[in-house]
Amino acid sequence: LDDLLAEGVSGRRVLVRADLNVPLDKQTGAITDDGRIRAVLPTLGALVEAGAKVVVCSHLGRPKGAPDPQFSLGPVAGRLGELLGAPVRFATDTVGDSARSTVADLADGQVALLENLRFNAGETSKDEAERGAFADQLAAFGDAYVDDAFGAVHRKHASVYDVPARLPHVAGRLVLREVEVLSKLAGDPERPYVVVLGGSKVSDKLAVIEALLPTVDRLLIGGGMCFTFLKAQGLEVGTSLLEKDMVETCRNLLERSNGKILLPVDVVVADAFAPDAAHDTVRVDGIPSHRLGLDVGPETVAGFSAALSPAKTIFWNGPMGVFEMPAFAAGTRGIAEAITKADAFSVVGGGDSAAAVRALGLDESSFGHISTGGGASLEYLEGKALPGIAALEN
Ligand code: 3PG
Repeated sequence: LDDLLAEGVSGRRVLVRADLNVPLDKQTGAITDDGRIRAVLPTLGALVEAGAKVVVCSHLGRPKGAPDPQFSLGPVAGRLGELLGAPVRFATDTVGDSARSTVADLADGQVALLENLRFNAGETSKDEAERGAFADQLAAFGDAYVDDAFGAVHRKHASVYDVPARLPHVAGRLVLREVEVLSKLAGDPERPYVVVLGGSKVSDKLAVIEALLPTVDRLLIGGGMCFTFLKAQGLEVGTSLLEKDMVETCRNLLERSNGKILLPVDVVVADAFAPDAAHDTVRVDGIPSHRLGLDVGPETVAGFSAALSPAKTIFWNGPMGVFEMPAFAAGTRGIAEAITKADAFSVVGGGDSAAAVRALGLDESSFGHISTGGGASLEYLEGKALPGIAALEN
């Protein structure tokens, strides 16, 4: 971005790909966590100050290539305007009449937001020609392109991969910071390097576990995914989340882990997946057959905290339990607090764990870095080539 600013952007149209894929309340449609909007402000602020005509585009959710009002970016435009301190002009389509006139009418230093990119089949198409045709329409709105959508750099989508091939392109402040931080973790992290993984599905985390095992000193596993590992140890897990076809893989990982993987020793089990469900803490070898685990227990928090305490580098992805329900939030809170107490450089990766930090009222500044990328940060640490980064490097 500094290179682009040095060239001068006053009066030029700058197309910014942001990741404004924020969580929305299912009932009211209100934005429940605006972290991703705030994360892109440094880039947008610099462009506004330099007098650019700023055209922002993003996806929200996973609409199926056609307009779907529940995924409109309209509310995001309102919030972005509040945060920038100046109204954001909202185009009610992505590359149609509304977008064309909104961009054409932009004054220097003004910001416009286009409607959800994924209302257009070309955005996510696997067909290069279809994607390219959509990228041509988008690229027509910019004299230069800035990628500040770290959360989407792992997607080979038109706005991330094909537009930079059509315009002078640079990385925004957020993308640069994310890559600087994650490359430190992937390179030569200060030791001990401890990784905490949670969340619901083992299958989503398998590749990163494989990639991290040789590098990390300890790998602490909680959240819904721990039950498949506990099953792999021969324990019964009641009606807890279980990916049966992953049990053998987990057993194999445990055998190869040289004792680096640490699993819960106690869990909070409940009668149902509900905020007011009756619940108790039990040892992992005593999970009743009719109950399901919704959080890790206090002994686990103590054990994991002891493993985190000497760490010099920490990466945390995925909550330890159903933190949205107060009865099952203690595990996530306890681990988050242990991370902040360690004298370590800590990185929180993933939408859910970042949202947990904010929802639990924890001090964001006590973490070294809170990544805006869920899948993107995991794929970066897996060592995969990320299409959005590759496109900027070309
Ligand atoms: C995310 O939430 O991880 C990013 O916004 C990417 O969204 P996607 O998984 O729907 O591509």
